[in-house]
Amino acid sequence: MLTIKKMIAERLSEGIAALGVPAAPTVEELAAMLEYPPDDNMGDLALPCFKLSRTLRRAPVQIAAALADCLGGLPCVGKAEAVNGYLNITISNGYLTETVLGGILEAGDRYGASNVGCGKTVVLDYSSPNVAKPFHIGHLGTTVIGHSLKKLHEFAGYKCVGINYLGDWGTQFGKLIVAYKKWGNRQQIEEGGIDKLVELYVRINNAISGNEEKGIPADPTLGDAARAEFHKLELGDEENLALWRWFIDISLAEYQKTYKQLGIEFDSYKGESFYTDKMPAQVQKLRDMGLLKIDDGASIVDLEPYNMPPCLILKRDGSTLYPTRDIAAAVYRKDTYNFDKAIYVTSAGQSLHFAQWFKVVELMGYEWHDQLVHVPYGTVSINGAKLATRTGNVVLLKDLFKAAIDEVAGIMEEKNPDLENKKEVAEAVGVGAIVFYYLSNSRIKDINFVMEDALNFDGNTGPYAQYTYARTCAVLRRAGNVEEMPLQITENDEAALLKVLARFPEKVNAAIADYEPSVITRYILDVAAAFNRFYHNCQILNAEDPTVRATRVALTRAVNVVLGNAFPLICMKTMEKI
Ligand code: ARG
Repeated sequence: MLTIKKMIAERLSEGIAALGVPAAPTVEELAAMLEYPPDDNMGDLALPCFKLSRTLRRAPVQIAAALADCLGGLPCVGKAEAVNGYLNITISNGYLTETVLGGILEAGDRYGASNVGCGKTVVLDYSSPNVAKPFHIGHLGTTVIGHSLKKLHEFAGYKCVGINYLGDWGTQFGKLIVAYKKWGNRQQIEEGGIDKLVELYVRINNAISGNEEKGIPADPTLGDAARAEFHKLELGDEENLALWRWFIDISLAEYQKTYKQLGIEFDSYKGESFYTDKMPAQVQKLRDMGLLKIDDGASIVDLEPYNMPPCLILKRDGSTLYPTRDIAAAVYRKDTYNFDKAIYVTSAGQSLHFAQWFKVVELMGYEWHDQLVHVPYGTVSINGAKLATRTGNVVLLKDLFKAAIDEVAGIMEEKNPDLENKKEVAEAVGVGAIVFYYLSNSRIKDINFVMEDALNFDGNTGPYAQYTYARTCAVLRRAGNVEEMPLQITENDEAALLKVLARFPEKVNAAIADYEPSVITRYILDVAAAFNRFYHNCQILNAEDPTVRATRVALTRAVNVVLGNAFPLICMKTMEKI
């Protein structure tokens, strides 16, 4: 539609020029004014002419009539009608078959891609779990939104660097070391992996702050011990360093399993610890620039003029903080990758943190401060229940995935027991269901997860979308080789489907512009709905006329191309058979 809008806008601009008015909108402005009407019988595109009334010094009805005339003869326009000050435009079937359908088949896996980002680099910081703390459903957002944004930018030609900024430093390691020395056992952890680590972490937190429900009294001395162990770690104590590395390795191995299920790979795993020696230079710069203030012993940057609480740089004891590390990491990434954009995906709970340190970077005179982008998202609850990480009352991501996979495996055992690669399919469909459900929502909205809804094969879900893709594969397998011939569409359902397919490049752009993968998720549902309507109303393989059959097979292939290109953009796998 992108090119259609442009072609129409060019012709409209000529038509407007012929009206002889001093100021006229540009082609780009006109293209942006073209709307998709809510109702099919208002055409495929509409120009609301009242918006032009003032500049063109004419009544909307008159403008619509004049412009309808000027569109006559444009090959992509089937019909142009002036209705109540609107110019309603219907796209011609000839254009849909030759240019849209032909274009999709020719472009194949590049359909929807572009090179607008060519020569530009985007760094994406996402997922970034805190080692030894549970990797729970609160991390689903950063993980899948982050990776989708990476895929979308790559599709638009940007060079992308995906960074997993592991939370691999901090007092939690002191706690874990105390807990391990007190209750841990090497063999148990080697066998039980991250679950055992999390158990230790939960146990030590309960022990430090006490847990009334479980009748555990608070023991603050354990907190002191944890701080002491972390301090030893900071000073490079061999034993603690070895334990620390071991904890990270165990956690990473576990995360990788989840990433693999989602088809996610990172380009860098440089976590918080990597920046320890990069912070002093930035702290010094802040001090030299006179930006640091001492407040109750701590060093802060005053952000009152910007209506924000102060940004904490150093604690009273001189230790660094979360913002300090983020500032050092941003400088390092700019130096290393020379990014044009650095995207950070975290829950909206961290919005203030990002606003604060972005401002500090600006005050430090780094002219690239406006290339930093925070992409926030809402909270997740499961069946209405909120999460709490420290007490262990959480739903782990891997458990959520496992539940979905088991459920799908059960359904498939019933529906299609002879399927060859059942395990692989159950995993793709189960994990895909969760991801699709999550990414159907605008990212900033809070979401309540209801497993039944996510897995409903008949709803607007991942399984339904994947099933539709598999259906296109089945049709194409049975179609065999189709002789090449000129194509022709004959039914409204065919035209309607092509119009949806024509919008894909525009949707990719919109998803990038708003950092909003849900644009793609919802678009996939539009494609699935249009295809399934076509599939039910039009005979494909049994069509008698060879042109009709060839056209419908080509349409099915085009749907296969579009879904095949769209799924990976939202971390979903395509399965040929379900
Ligand atoms: N590890 C942090 C957390 O789990 C998220 C890190 C986000 N990235 C960043 N550069 N601050 O809350």
